[in-house]
Amino acid sequence: MSCHKKAYITTPIYYVNDIAHIGHAYTTIIADTLARYSRMSGLDTFFLTGTDEHGQKIEESAKSRGKTPQAYADEISAAFKDLWDDFDISYDKFIRTTDADHMKGVQKAFSVMHDNGDIYKDIYKGHYCISCETFFPASQLVDDEFCPECGKSTTIVEEESYFFKLSKYQDRLLEWYENNPECILPKSKRNEVIRFVEGGLTDLSITRTSFDWGVKLPENFNDPKHVMYVWLDALMNYLTALGYGTDDAKMDQWPARVHLIGKDILRFHAIYWPAFLMSLDLPLPKHIAAHGWWTRDGEKMSKSKGNVVNPREVADAYGLDNFRYFMLREVPFGGDGDFSQKALIDRINSDLGNDLGNLLNRLIGMSGKYFEGKVDSTNVAKYYQAELDEVHASLDKLEPLLFDMQIHRYLEELWRPLSVANRSIDKYQPWTLMKEGKEEEAMALNGLIAAILGKVSVMLYPVMPDICTKISDALGFKIDNASWNNIINERNLLEAFTIEKIPPLFPRVEEPLLEQAEPIDQKAEPKAEAKTKKEEKKEEGVALIGIDQFFQTSLKVGTVVKAEEVPKSKKLLLLQVDVGEEEPRQVVAGIKEWYSADDMLNTQVCVVANLKPAKLMGLKSEGMLLAAKDGDGLCMIRPEKPKTAGTPIG
Ligand code: MSP
Repeated sequence: MSCHKKAYITTPIYYVNDIAHIGHAYTTIIADTLARYSRMSGLDTFFLTGTDEHGQKIEESAKSRGKTPQAYADEISAAFKDLWDDFDISYDKFIRTTDADHMKGVQKAFSVMHDNGDIYKDIYKGHYCISCETFFPASQLVDDEFCPECGKSTTIVEEESYFFKLSKYQDRLLEWYENNPECILPKSKRNEVIRFVEGGLTDLSITRTSFDWGVKLPENFNDPKHVMYVWLDALMNYLTALGYGTDDAKMDQWPARVHLIGKDILRFHAIYWPAFLMSLDLPLPKHIAAHGWWTRDGEKMSKSKGNVVNPREVADAYGLDNFRYFMLREVPFGGDGDFSQKALIDRINSDLGNDLGNLLNRLIGMSGKYFEGKVDSTNVAKYYQAELDEVHASLDKLEPLLFDMQIHRYLEELWRPLSVANRSIDKYQPWTLMKEGKEEEAMALNGLIAAILGKVSVMLYPVMPDICTKISDALGFKIDNASWNNIINERNLLEAFTIEKIPPLFPRVEEPLLEQAEPIDQKAEPKAEAKTKKEEKKEEGVALIGIDQFFQTSLKVGTVVKAEEVPKSKKLLLLQVDVGEEEPRQVVAGIKEWYSADDMLNTQVCVVANLKPAKLMGLKSEGMLLAAKDGDGLCMIRPEKPKTAGTPIG
């Protein structure tokens, strides 16, 4: 990233006609992640968010609630700001389009565009969708009346209007898309925009006279009945926030490194905005990055269905950082995503609890048990250079993925070092090293695990700032530009330290924590049919249980790290199974008729991990293995692909 020393990162400014939902939180969290990474890696970062408060839609919403538009906007804008503050969103400025400086900047832009010959007065005749605040030519309407974007009825408008010469910029826009393959991300979206522009651009009406709630034209136009089109007003926020038109102090942050938006507002950002900037003689943004749409349990969210996901509720129930991780990991950027509690719980228990949290617990356990809590990296390279190389190869791929908006891949790649760590414990077995008196090697293994956790916590920090701060505190260092340079850029290991014992970071989530409608498929099932199914089951003698009962059983993937026969027993094998804990579990399994000890060694199994310990032939057994037996004999149930020891099954 060395060639771009600055990083100006923006979210859309949110309409104040509704409170924030998961879609808004998603854009803001991505932007926050980029901003945090940029700062940590030493870029001069400016992160902007805010609210979009003018326009016919807001005016009407306020009226329907018996409020003035300003009072209404004040209230909702404050609610957005409070949410982002509670979410610890690291914005540098929160802009409101009702800010006096912003309005002055918009007027200035109008004058400059006019002086550059790009604005003329005419009559606008056509259709307007108030909900989308968009003009549509009749040819694009559905059934001659309805908005092609949202399906609502459009209004016929015939009024005097100022126009922006959008058509004049068609060729320059096409040239820009052509010469900058990454100007619109993901790249597939760029093709959509190119096709649209090639279809021909008509000039854009940029003022309205039929309502009042907007920025007036500059006084010298002497045309008080006009207010600016809300999208001209709104897009200009990206410049006025830097002082355009009032105090240019921060204008050197321009052009934006990335405008983050949702796919529904791509046209405004990828066509109108660069054309306005061309008219203002300003450079164009580096990336316009459009993400997909969130649904809930497979359905579009809407107030009327009552299924809108409230980000505050989710964060309160599941933890803010867990929610952040889920959103960014679950969906490839640009694709649509589905919010379900099940998917969120899976991510928490598996990726976070098992792969990350458990690794820290293991490190705390090993260091405490063998070394009085001390961790020393001095000999890591001597014993584990291959593992270090593998870890660094993954870490090196990360930064480009982030600014290419491949955030899900960033996180996927960041989990590889964790699996190197988990695998190394299984493979080198610190308890065996200690038994064999190889203390130096065991300490080096400890150092390797700590180094990996340290590096991962730095690179994960932009996504999970709070959790990663806890991890780095336990590991005795602070996450900042200096430590990023030291352990990521320069690939150093951690200084010797004494580990701090901290409580588990990701307590297992056993059941959905938010009160909510049952899963859609159950709800949709006609009652009569459900009853018949139930009766059928009863006939078969299988009692039906709820999902919560199922979750009471802790099933885990285990790796058999030692296997031997139980003397004098025809049926039993004595196994040591690593289920991701500090030490392997001893399991006595009645499988010897079908499997020898050698067959079982280094294979993976499914373990019931929360059974009360039992004794078999005088040997303690701390778990049960899943197997299936029919007339043909018995076979073990195993994961289809190798999985980290301790991965929950469910
Ligand atoms: N005010 C305009 C933006 C002006 S930017 C100069 C606006 N506001 S909005 O509040 O309606 O939407 C803000 C963002 O939220 C958009 O990027 C939109 O894509 C996003 N989302 C709204 N609903 C969404 C989902 N269900 N899922 C994901 N994002 C969604 O548009």
